[in-house]
Amino acid sequence: MNVNRKVLTLDEFTIQQVRQIPNATGELSTLLRDIGLASKRINVEVNKAGLVDILGDAGSINVQGEDVKKLDIYANDQFTGVLQHGISCAGIASEELDDYIAFDDTESKNSKYVCLFDPLDGSGNIDVNVSIGTIFGVYRRVTPLGTIASKEDFLQKGTQQVAAGYIIYGSSTMLVYATRRGVNGFTLDPSIGEFTLSNANIKCPPSGKIYSVNHGNFFQYNEGVKSYIDICQRKNKNTGGPYTQRYIGSMVADVHRNLVKGGIFMYPGTIDKPKGKLRLLYECNPFAFIIEVAGGKATDGHQRILDIQPTELHQRTPMFIGSKDMMGELEKEMGNS
Ligand code: AHG
Ligand code: MN
Ligand code: MN
Repeated sequence: MNVNRKVLTLDEFTIQQVRQIPNATGELSTLLRDIGLASKRINVEVNKAGLVDILGDAGSINVQGEDVKKLDIYANDQFTGVLQHGISCAGIASEELDDYIAFDDTESKNSKYVCLFDPLDGSGNIDVNVSIGTIFGVYRRVTPLGTIASKEDFLQKGTQQVAAGYIIYGSSTMLVYATRRGVNGFTLDPSIGEFTLSNANIKCPPSGKIYSVNHGNFFQYNEGVKSYIDICQRKNKNTGGPYTQRYIGSMVADVHRNLVKGGIFMYPGTIDKPKGKLRLLYECNPFAFIIEVAGGKATDGHQRILDIQPTELHQRTPMFIGSKDMMGELEKEMGNS
């Protein structure tokens, strides 16, 4: 079979990017390659998820005599292992771990980046064959090179990200990542096992027709959110509504669709959980960075997500993210404009 050489692989693309930046060391492209490798391994396991009855359920022992792990733990271990053995990452923090891990070997201590991730997002959807994903944010460490990373490296504002991205295990598997230079999407070509550039320079349309929110919580939302949802559902000459409601329950899939087609995704606080459900460091900051580079907006309803100073690794925040004009309409209803 012929390989189309006009198609750029993820590695080729990141190396080309490095060449355009004077004094770049290439460490970030190595890190992105490691992330690509970990996600290819996760992809293989995700694709086997439906075979769980045959191969063994989480907690059981499979036919090879190996322990079968929950997929989110498997994904966490793959990301942690690949980044630890790579040469660009000083430490990681993950939704699946209570605390951060600072890698203690010489190579890692001399690495300038830390990576924070949600190894498997939307994991409640695994059993029913619905798209799930991985989300990551990369920061330059603030502690000196050569030392072991510490908590302050992980508790940085989202504005400090140098790159952020996600992998969506969907009808195809895609890796999308942003640096300040742009957002680019790569689709995994299973015939060669490579992520290849498929969506160059992604821009979020300034407006769209889709709103994504968990309607089951409607009566728990504040008046501003309810009023905006009401507008989304009405015919309205300012907005061109009614909009279409789409909610997959995997943030990666919901925000990816809205990024490409235009739309808004909301996970507001509720009466029971005023800070909502989503985690600032592993879910909200990476997506806020990506959407802003693509021309959209992300807030907690009052403040830009990327400006929030984190105080703990697992802190949660309400999240509103999407097309610029739709976010403007929301802000009006929330009384912020
Ligand atoms: P995770 O699987 O990492 O715990 O995250 C699931 C998140 C997010 O992906 C999704 O948008 C949200 O949970 C859905 O929550 P609700 O079921 O409460 O709407
Ligand atoms: Mn998640
Ligand atoms: Mn998760």
